Amino acid sequence: MRAKILCVAGARPNFMKIAPVVRALGASPHLEPRLVHTGQHYDEKLSRVFFDHLGMSRPHIELAVGSGSHAAQTAEIMRRFEPVLAEEQPHGVLVVGDVNSTLACALAAAKYRRREPFHTSLGARIRPLVIHVEAGLRCFDDDMPEEVNRRLTDSIGDLLFVTEAAGVENLRREGVPEERIHLVGNVMIDTLLASKDEAVASPVLADLALQEGAYGLVTLHRPSNVDESETLRALVAALDEVALRLPLVFPVHPRTRARLDDAAIRPDSERWKIVDPLGYLDFLKLMSSARVVFTDSGGIQEETTVLGVPCVTLRRNTERPVTISEGTNHLGGTSRDGILAAFEEAVQPGPPRSVPDLWDGRAAERICSVLASLFALH
Ligand code: UD1
Repeated sequence: MRAKILCVAGARPNFMKIAPVVRALGASPHLEPRLVHTGQHYDEKLSRVFFDHLGMSRPHIELAVGSGSHAAQTAEIMRRFEPVLAEEQPHGVLVVGDVNSTLACALAAAKYRRREPFHTSLGARIRPLVIHVEAGLRCFDDDMPEEVNRRLTDSIGDLLFVTEAAGVENLRREGVPEERIHLVGNVMIDTLLASKDEAVASPVLADLALQEGAYGLVTLHRPSNVDESETLRALVAALDEVALRLPLVFPVHPRTRARLDDAAIRPDSERWKIVDPLGYLDFLKLMSSARVVFTDSGGIQEETTVLGVPCVTLRRNTERPVTISEGTNHLGGTSRDGILAAFEEAVQPGPPRSVPDLWDGRAAERICSVLASLFALH
């Protein structure tokens, strides 16, 4: 018997994380992965291009949930996912990251009772195992919706796969039993390392008339940075001071595009290249060749660390502290002075930086071997 694992992805950063997991599980004689796309992100540029670029098969199941308020979106994903649990009778539900789809599917699974019990090395059970990949990260700021999603998902997870040592410490502090915690490395980096060579051939630099190492790259989409027009205006103004020295490329998330338009914020087109969201390989090429990256994303802090590209994070905190202690990340906060100081620091030659332990392209394999031994022979 192969254990059926529903693998859930919903929003852009989930696709890079789920791709290597689905691939590794599919190669195991003990496991049968089924990909579920919640449809939290549905734009071609935030969703379909990733399936094309990551060589992922089409999802087995699409929930087509679309946008909504946090409560409406989370509830709607749960409402649509429960019949999938009934139909599929999975042995496990694997969720990644910290988006609304992560929490919604974990919560639906945690309370779902299968028709038949099944056995694992952890004992007999009637409910599917809830498996969280990228568990344990904490920024200790509940104003971020992702922090709430992370804490709640971990509290109902049966198996928690962690990317960095700080995540293990956080889970221990929260009283999570040791046998649930597995430090396996970073699946997003599995995808990055597998795609690096292909990304070299991307024509994006020529398309945007950019020179290698002679521009900065900006991404911004956190509600706390973009939803208030005065905050967004001040951030763009601070970055514009950087742009006087280094042209900036800004692929704009739909949320941010709408806020820029509402507030009539129009960065100077001499110094800024404002473009639509890019596909994975083009973005990887743009990141690898940048002089510096300014971002409020979680994953980009990790990707720049592995690429060795200086990163200024436009937040007051990070749930990924290893990117600062070992990697290339600098916390800039959101004030003008903080951002400019972090920029100066980021582009100075500093002590050698390193790639965190287990960020070696084999995290999905490790996850697969934990799951396979849990289900094998039971
Ligand atoms: C979500 C995640 C965030 C992740 C980000 C990556 C949560 C709480 N947040 O934020 O952690 O870093 O995705 O992009 O899950 N929209 C479109 N097209 C789409 C999807 C959304 O135009 O395909 C617009 C809609 O107006 C929507 C808004 O973007 O209301 C925000 O989308 P939503 O999924 O709510 O959150 P993100 O800001 O994308």
